[in-house]
Amino acid sequence: CGNISHAYVIFGATGNLATHKLLPALYQLHCQGQLAADVEILGCGRSPFTQATWQAEVRAKLVGLVEGDAHLDGFIQRLDYLAGSLTDPGFYQALHTWVGDNGCENNVIFYLSVSPDLYVGVTDGLANVGLLQETSGWRRMVIEKPFGYDLPSAQALQRSLEQHLKEEQIYRIDHYVGKASVQNLLVLRFANVILEPLWNRHYIDHVQITHSETVGVDGRASYYDRSGGAMRDMIQSHLLQVLALLAMEPPVSQTAEALRDEKVKVLKSIRPVDVSQLATHAVRAQYAGYQQEEGVTAGSHTETYAALQLYVDNWRWQGVPFYLRTGKGLAEKRSMVSVCFKPAPVSLFQGQGASALPNWLMIGIQPEDAVRMEITAKVPGLEMRTRQITMDASVSSPGERKAEAYEELLLDVIKGDRALFLRYDEVTAAWQVVDPVMQAWSLDEHPPLQYPLGSWGPKAAERVFGDSLRVWRHSL
Ligand code: BG6
Repeated sequence: CGNISHAYVIFGATGNLATHKLLPALYQLHCQGQLAADVEILGCGRSPFTQATWQAEVRAKLVGLVEGDAHLDGFIQRLDYLAGSLTDPGFYQALHTWVGDNGCENNVIFYLSVSPDLYVGVTDGLANVGLLQETSGWRRMVIEKPFGYDLPSAQALQRSLEQHLKEEQIYRIDHYVGKASVQNLLVLRFANVILEPLWNRHYIDHVQITHSETVGVDGRASYYDRSGGAMRDMIQSHLLQVLALLAMEPPVSQTAEALRDEKVKVLKSIRPVDVSQLATHAVRAQYAGYQQEEGVTAGSHTETYAALQLYVDNWRWQGVPFYLRTGKGLAEKRSMVSVCFKPAPVSLFQGQGASALPNWLMIGIQPEDAVRMEITAKVPGLEMRTRQITMDASVSSPGERKAEAYEELLLDVIKGDRALFLRYDEVTAAWQVVDPVMQAWSLDEHPPLQYPLGSWGPKAAERVFGDSLRVWRHSL
C-alpha cells in the first residue's frame, strides 16, 4: 500500500482536473487507508483561499461521494492551501517554507495540473529554491498530457526538465493507461493461452479502436481550440497507448522498463502516414455548432473528430490495419476495441446463413468492461442453417467497486511505480506518428468536414477503409 509519509502538492488545485479527478481520487485513497496518517495535501492556485475556506470548498465538492462520509472529516484535515502566482518567485519561497514546516519526511509529489505552457516555469521556480533536490527524501513531478504540443516542443520541454530532474523523478501521466479495463488488455492477452496463437497477421483482419463522447468541448473550448484537437488530445496519447498494449510482444516481466520497452517498440514500428494520400488515411471533422462555442476562434479548423488508419510494420502485424477514431458530440459515450478475424479458409456453409460473417472479439473499455466474442453457430432445427451468436462476459462483478484511473495512478506515484506512466521515448514516438498528419492538416485550407451533434461522425470517416468492405463498429 501507499502508506508512505509525503506531501502531495497540486498546482492548479482549483481547476477542473483537480476538482473532478485528483481530489476525489485522493479522498478515495484516504478512505481505503492508503494514505499514511501524516500525509498533507497542499492546493496551490491564484484564488485567494485560506486553509479554512479551502477546506470548506473541497468538503462541499466531496460530500456524498463516498457513502456515509465517515472519513470525510479526516480527509479534510489533511488539506492546506497556498495562494500565489506561479510566475512569482516569492510563491516558491513560500512553498519552500511550507515544505520545511511539514512533517512529510521530505518526500514531496508535485502535480502539474496547469496549462502545459507553465510546466517549464514551475519546474524552474521549484528548482530555484532547491525544492527538486533529493537530499533526504524523494521529489517526484507528475506531468499531465499533452507532453509538448508536437515533437519539437516535447523535446524542448524534456531538455528543460532534464536540467533539474532525473528521469526517475518524472511521472508523465496518461490516465487512460490507469483504467482497469485498459490494463485488462494485458491480462487478457498474456494470462490466457487462447488468444495469443491467433493474435497476429495470419488470423486478424483488422483492429478498430474507438473512443466516442457525447459531450462537446464542455467549457474547455478556448483551451481545446488553441491546444487541443482530437488528434493531439486523444490519439497522440490515449488511443496510441491502447494500440501499443494491443500490439506489443509479451514483456519479460511486469516491471516499468520491461513494459515500456515493448510498448515503445510498437510505437516505433508504426509506418509513417503517407501524407500525399492523406484523405484516405486520416479524416478530420468538427461537430456542427463548434464554431459557435464561446472561446472558439472564428473560422477555427480544430478538429473535434479524427479517424486514422495505421500499420504496424513488424513481423506480427505486417499488413493488418489498425483504425483509430475519436470524437466529441457523438451518438454514444463508448470506448472499445473491436478485433475482426479473417474468414474461415473454406466456406462450408455458404448460403446457409451467417457463415460468411467473420468472428469478432469486442473488448469494452467504458462504460461496460465487457468482453464479447461473436461466433457462428447452427440454428436449432431440422435445417442446416447458421447464425451469429455472442459469447458475453462482464469483467467486473455486480456490486464490485471500479476504481477510477486516477486513484491507481496517484497511488503509483506514492509507491514510486512508474509502469503505468509514459517514458520519454514513448512520447516522442507517439508525436512522430501524429505530427505529419497534424502538419498536413494545418496547411490544408479546406475547413474540416462537419457532422451533426449526436451522430457517429462524418460519413467520410469510412474513407480510411479504402475499397475494402470494412465498416466502423459502433456497439459492443
Ligand atoms: C482527456 C481529454 O485526456 O480525456 C478529454 O483531454 C477527454 O478531452 C478525456 O474527454 C476522456 O477521458 P475519460 O476517462 O473521461 O473517458
